[in-house]
Amino acid sequence: MRVLGLESSCDETAAAIVEDGRVVLADVVASQHEVHAAYGGVVPELASRAHVVNVIPVLRAALDRAGCGLDTIDAIAVTRGPGLVGALLVALQAAKAIAWARGLPLVGVHHLVGHLSAIQLEPSPPPMPHLALIVSGGHTSLVRVEGHGDVVELGATRDDAAGEAFDKGAKLLGLGYPGGAVVDRLAKTGDPTAVKFPRAMAGRDTRDEFSFSGLKTSLLHHVRAHGQPEGQALADLCASYQAAIVEVLVRKTRRAARREGLAHVQVCGGVAANSALRAAMIAAGAEDEFTVHVPPPVRCTDNAAMIAAAGHHLLAAGARDGIELEAAATLPLPRRAA
Ligand code: KG4
Ligand code: ZN
Repeated sequence: MRVLGLESSCDETAAAIVEDGRVVLADVVASQHEVHAAYGGVVPELASRAHVVNVIPVLRAALDRAGCGLDTIDAIAVTRGPGLVGALLVALQAAKAIAWARGLPLVGVHHLVGHLSAIQLEPSPPPMPHLALIVSGGHTSLVRVEGHGDVVELGATRDDAAGEAFDKGAKLLGLGYPGGAVVDRLAKTGDPTAVKFPRAMAGRDTRDEFSFSGLKTSLLHHVRAHGQPEGQALADLCASYQAAIVEVLVRKTRRAARREGLAHVQVCGGVAANSALRAAMIAAGAEDEFTVHVPPPVRCTDNAAMIAAAGHHLLAAGARDGIELEAAATLPLPRRAA
């Protein structure tokens, strides 16, 4: 089965073609980072407009790269939420139009189930059930993945997501938007012990919950007290700030893996591209004897190959959506394959 995936939930317009849920024939992403950089965050109306401009060229590019026409596509998968409704609607309407015009099956995909499915495109995906740490710009959750599209949330963030913590920290340091990758790069030459930042909710009583908003306030106080850092001081601050985020994520994940008795752990979402998080999680897995699965960095950030992969498994389980499929700003994680 050849699935066309479409994604426009935030600031990436993406189209991909995936065969049998495993083989990526094309994976095209048009990022809007330049559109939003001047504002230090995503401006919803500008995101919607950029998606409208990009959606058809991105779809065309995906078909060209795969060397196939729409007549070879068997089904369409599209992100239905959570996300910005005006942004989601663009790919959703395109998907509905193609499905209707071609008489193809259509399935709506939960964006986080998409992130969880990126690992299915790798040579050795984790067995079910497994533990997953989802760390994106909008979400931070520890979940038990029971099956495709069957997810039990163990805990989530009470305030900012991990990606938000990176982005807000980077903004405070004048590093632009989105700042996660910039902090990651600068931290490579910094000392993670240079500045002591709080490890929020690290105790056992808070179980699988996270909190990152206090961390950004600590950074603000630090910058107010010491001024905007440059050179080595900036690298040290980035490394210390990143270490505070990474340490809590890893500590909670290894604790949950032990408690749930799960020997396979995946990390997904944009922050899973972070080099320090990847290294620390792999080291924790080696110590605690769980296998760590992380998609390559380009499949951690938003893309449509993960949506096509998720769609493939939902379609295989019999899921179908009609022309009435709606975009959803918020959407609970699905408990059972639909
Ligand atoms: O999954 P994603 O592309 O979009 C959402 O679903 O939110 O995640 C975007 C987030 C942003 O906050 C971005 O700063 C962060 O992922 N990110 C990183 C890195 N690359 C992207 N954070 C830390 N280190 C990175 N290398
Ligand atoms: Zn995402």
